[in-house]
Amino acid sequence: MAKKTILDLNVEGKKVLIRVDFNVPMHDGVITDENRIVQALPTIKYVIENGGKAIVFSHLGRIKEASDLEKNSLKPVACRLQELLGHEVVFVPETRGKALEDAINNMKTGDVVMFENTRFEDLDGKKESKNDPELGKYWASLGDVFINDAFGTAHRAHASNVGIASNIKETAAGFLLEKEIKFIGGAVDNPVRPFVAVLGGAKVSDKIDVVENLIVKADKILIGGGMMFTFLKAQGYNVGASKCELDKVELAKELLEKANGKIVLPVDTLAAKSFSNDASFRSCKVDEIAADEMGLDIGAETVELFDSILKTAKTVVWNGPMGVFEMPNFAKGTIGVCESIAHLTDATTIVGGGDSAAAAIQFGYASKFSHISTGGGASLEYLEGKTLPGVACIDEI
Ligand code: 3PG
Repeated sequence: MAKKTILDLNVEGKKVLIRVDFNVPMHDGVITDENRIVQALPTIKYVIENGGKAIVFSHLGRIKEASDLEKNSLKPVACRLQELLGHEVVFVPETRGKALEDAINNMKTGDVVMFENTRFEDLDGKKESKNDPELGKYWASLGDVFINDAFGTAHRAHASNVGIASNIKETAAGFLLEKEIKFIGGAVDNPVRPFVAVLGGAKVSDKIDVVENLIVKADKILIGGGMMFTFLKAQGYNVGASKCELDKVELAKELLEKANGKIVLPVDTLAAKSFSNDASFRSCKVDEIAADEMGLDIGAETVELFDSILKTAKTVVWNGPMGVFEMPNFAKGTIGVCESIAHLTDATTIVGGGDSAAAAIQFGYASKFSHISTGGGASLEYLEGKTLPGVACIDEI
């Protein structure tokens, strides 16, 4: 990419502001998926090993009222970062002020300071999320150079990414952001063909722009998940009580026409009488769904069909589960597709964040993919072909 990366910066002796995305899922104060922290380690390590002073910060959750503050403190994340880094992390429970400034000014080379959730600033007029000019300027004044490694937040133009970048002399991409751009950008802009996209998830409306963009770029688009029923309806099938966005059926028809055979839809499904793992269910063809049944997963024939297409691929991007994979009875389609992609040895395989990334990790296939994106919304917008403000704000080489 034509953007400056961390390797283009001289960090020695410098106060290096590092924006990471540590917006990790937490349950009762315990981190339930630390992938985003693990993936940010190379950048932080590089800075401390090369004599920089690492000032790390992130948002966590959304802050609307005072009662959101405590549960969204980054303190537990700072503790976990310290363990994973094997290096002291000084946590400052502030987003501005003397305590933070003193902590930074007292840093020696190789030290790591992490400060509190940048969205604590949202309590007072959404300063972080609205990219308040004074806030970006203030945070920029705390450092000498800025590294943006928060791919997961790159679709936001906030004070802690775009705001800082506009007010500091040098801005570069961290290793993670560089890797995300290399894999997702590479797949979309310059794929080794055949390029097969696998799209799932509940709603067509969430993926319209992705489908539109990939119709032009991909060789095949395999569609599963709840969104498949809107497409099946557009083809004239009765989908019974399956999830179907009636107001998107016309659009699905248009997409199918535009795709000119590139879109491949499921041929069978697992149909149940209610949305529950305990519901009785049967496997049936997509034209056999009864009026009181809902499809909750793709069927075994579809898994095979998708597998046969995936076997031909040299580039694969997967975004969205094939069924209600949180319910074990309806996880087989997602597991099947995950396995098919994981077994490809001669292809670049990318999982585009969110639920599919969680599924790949949960099923134990994380190491089998070329890249698992740390971005949910960001990877979707990237697949849609949009310019991400958090990438655009990085200096060109
Ligand atoms: C994400 O998890 O998608 C990012 O961290 C962005 O979070 P947001 O949707 O709250 O801006």
